[in-house]
Amino acid sequence: MPSPRIDVLDDYDVLSRAGADMVSVFLRSTPAARIVVATGATPMGLYRELAHRRGRGELEAAEVTVFQLDEYAGIAPDDRRSLLGWARRSFVEPLGIPPDRVVPVPTDGDPETCAEYDREVERAGGYDLAILGIGRNGHVGFNEPPSDPSAPTRLVELTPESIDSNAAYWGDVEHVPRRAVTIGLAGLLRSRTILLVASGGSKREIVQRAVLGPMTDEVPASHLRASADLRVLVDRAAWDGPEPA
Ligand code: GLP
Repeated sequence: MPSPRIDVLDDYDVLSRAGADMVSVFLRSTPAARIVVATGATPMGLYRELAHRRGRGELEAAEVTVFQLDEYAGIAPDDRRSLLGWARRSFVEPLGIPPDRVVPVPTDGDPETCAEYDREVERAGGYDLAILGIGRNGHVGFNEPPSDPSAPTRLVELTPESIDSNAAYWGDVEHVPRRAVTIGLAGLLRSRTILLVASGGSKREIVQRAVLGPMTDEVPASHLRASADLRVLVDRAAWDGPEPA
């Protein structure tokens, strides 16, 4: 089993710049990269940093194809709370990626549509890079616990923890959709490189379990360690393990 490369950065800003460094290097060697883009709070600093670099003419991303990681089931793409809208506003538009280079997840969650989506990605050669966050319950995208490493792209029931942690975006916990569609762990694990970012004390416990604990369906992010090239960027507040070598 390859070991993940773990970098512990002083704080969120340093983490965001380190993440942007990694993505910039990746884009120089693979300008037409197929990139899975997480939303959530954690990668926003990284995306802002990438946008600044593009503004300064240091980064070119027009050939990138963006794959949406996850979405609330049945939500309209123009709903301001849709994760697709969030990915467009935070990543696609600031990086000057043409709108037709964005691939949404099949939000109707129909099993055959999801299977066809996975087959198409596979035929196109899979993802090159997946930029991922981690939920406090160990989820990746909306691969909620328990999720096994062969999990396909699919419709899922959100766990109470995920409903709770997304309540702020919906005004009230009652309004959070109960179901979502997510790229499966299987597809993510075939990504050439995975970048996992985590920040803050609320992620401390789950990061240790995902990175240092047993690989288990109960912590879906722990399965990312089966990836051939997993890079983990955490800030000091989110890290409770030994100083990585
Ligand atoms: C969500 C999303 C994930 C995200 C995770 C962590 O609910 N489905 O894609 O990575 O939670 O979010 P945050 O970075 O805001 O903690």
